[in-house]
Amino acid sequence: MGSLFLNSPTLATNKLAKLSGKFQWCFLRRKKMSSSSIVYCQGGGKAIRSSGFSSVLTERSSSTLVGDDHAAAVIDAGSLVLSPNGNKGQSEISIKDFDSYGGTTSSSLVEIQEGIGIVKFLGGKGFFITGATGFLAKVLIEKILRTMPDVGKIYVLIKAKNMEAAMARLKSEIINAELFKCLQQTYGKSYQTFMLSKLVPVVGNVCESNLGLEEDLANLIANEIDVIVNSAANTTFDERYDVAIDINTRGPCHLMSFAKKCQKLKLFLQVSTAYVNGQRQGRIMEKPFCIGDCIARESFGDFVSENTPRFPPTLDVENEMKLALNSKETFQENDLAQKMKELGLQRARKFGWQDTYVFTKAMGEMMIDSLRGDIPVVIIRPSVIESTCREPFPGWMEGNRMMDPIILYYGKGQLTGFLVDPNGVLDVVPADMVVNATLAAIARHGMVQKSGINVYQIASSVVNPLAFEDLAKLLYEHYNSTPYMDSKGSPIHVPSMKLFKSMEDFSDHLWRDVIQRNGLAELASSDRKLSLKHEFICRKSVEQAKYLANIYEPYTFYGGRFDNSNTQRLIESMSENEKKKFGFDVESIDWRDYITNVHIPGLRRHVLKGRGMCS
Ligand SMILES: NC(=O)c1ccc[n+]([C@@H]2O[C@H](COP(=O)([O-])OP(=O)(O)OC[C@H]3O[C@@H](n4cnc5c(N)ncnc54)[C@H](OP(=O)(O)O)[C@@H]3O)[C@@H](O)[C@H]2O)c1
Repeated sequence: MGSLFLNSPTLATNKLAKLSGKFQWCFLRRKKMSSSSIVYCQGGGKAIRSSGFSSVLTERSSSTLVGDDHAAAVIDAGSLVLSPNGNKGQSEISIKDFDSYGGTTSSSLVEIQEGIGIVKFLGGKGFFITGATGFLAKVLIEKILRTMPDVGKIYVLIKAKNMEAAMARLKSEIINAELFKCLQQTYGKSYQTFMLSKLVPVVGNVCESNLGLEEDLANLIANEIDVIVNSAANTTFDERYDVAIDINTRGPCHLMSFAKKCQKLKLFLQVSTAYVNGQRQGRIMEKPFCIGDCIARESFGDFVSENTPRFPPTLDVENEMKLALNSKETFQENDLAQKMKELGLQRARKFGWQDTYVFTKAMGEMMIDSLRGDIPVVIIRPSVIESTCREPFPGWMEGNRMMDPIILYYGKGQLTGFLVDPNGVLDVVPADMVVNATLAAIARHGMVQKSGINVYQIASSVVNPLAFEDLAKLLYEHYNSTPYMDSKGSPIHVPSMKLFKSMEDFSDHLWRDVIQRNGLAELASSDRKLSLKHEFICRKSVEQAKYLANIYEPYTFYGGRFDNSNTQRLIESMSENEKKKFGFDVESIDWRDYITNVHIPGLRRHVLKGRGMCS
């Protein structure tokens, strides 16, 4: 653990200074556990009919690496970004000391003893949640229902062609998900009845005006809900510009219009991402976006090159929305999708963001700020969300996301190195911590109901950085002690992971490796050429690994570090009991324990479904 801080003296000092404030959410003494060994449990409805109809299907980028496990090789490109984030080595990045950005979380001693009153606030409250079939909102719903069973109705907006289809999705993707096994154990035979008494599926789509809801239905919901949580998003890094803008920028506008109809609304919570900070460098504060903010303007003049325009660009969000829509008319049908993808990336980079996903999410934040009026708003900005670290059980994960394809390919011996700055930092946070922070922020600001906007970055890169070279060692440790089994049941032994700072070196390594693995080394060392078939197989494998490296580059060479002062103040305002039940102290994560005993076993169990494990 100590070695994690060797590369970041500033951060190490920061951590030491904070040691006295530690509390229960701690892994330091936890023994190795299996993902199924610990369960923390505490603890007949109607669907609403709407003629709202959605046929919007989102495209997802995917890629496969050559290997025997194609099912596992599909990459959810969610949260991946495309462009390199500058060429600075991580060791050169200075973490400037800024004053933290405002926020309204300072607390008196009496308040701290009493805490925020999370459970008290949420009891009986009505929710409207979007993105509930997705990874994060599911963890949120599970936590609410497990810890606050007296919560009011939770309306979940689901894309479906009719109510029956929405109900079917609610059951198969949420109620029957393994994530909810604690609640299933708690309620036994009455589990379905309990769940359906709380969860109300609503057919709709954030891209449509009025969310695709009929007026009567919209009014009914508007009268009942206290909190809106918008977790719906398109997380594909290079999505078509029109598609991404529709969901990530226009979606929040539609939700904000709906929020204005809600008589007793106490809070609007937007789930954003820490990477809305685009190509900002150094320590990045939890500062809200205002309409027209433009990262390229902030750094204008910092990086002057021949490609630097003479005048800083001006971002007009309304104009971008029109552009995305109107551009559709200008492209030919046969290359429309590709052109719209290129347009998104081009616009993002022009204004200082690395890809379409984070750019359109940032514009979503801007629109929320400009439309919110008196509505209290919280913006949650997690970095990369990975498997749960503790609740409802350690290691729950859905999909093969972000760093996970690399972890899995490495374990299977298919990828022995990667393009990454060894001293760089991977900013990861466990899903349950994100959810706990979300609930604490909802209660804190929902209770006060003060008009304003509060931003919380749930991130580890400043308070508890995980260096890539340390991550590589942890992966090696894990697979050395618990290797994958090949198709014959023999353990796959992996070498320690090699880290390359240049694409050229990485590419050379890939060629050597693939030739070796395919038993072609002798052939390649003689003057004889590889057969066309061999060359095709090797080239495909190399190209796919390079593609992966390219899309990860903005992360593996990321120049920003996410400050989380507001989030820490939120923790400070919690009672000891709340810290135990709703902890999100990212600083206390023991990465060795999380990566080797929680996250990778979770991936192997929930994503690979146990394939390649000892029987
Ligand atoms: N995962 C991460 O690492 C990460 C990191 C930082 C921030 N975030 C943010 O966290 C939030 C949740 O992410 P996630 O990982 O849970 O995403 P996810 O698994 O991809 O889920 C996205 C959800 O949004 C819904 N959705 C998409 N388009 C919609 C539309 N037009 N109308 C209504 N619903 C729509 C999806 O519904 P369908 O099932 O019908 O497609 C799904 O329920 C997002 O806002 C994301 O930006 C995620």
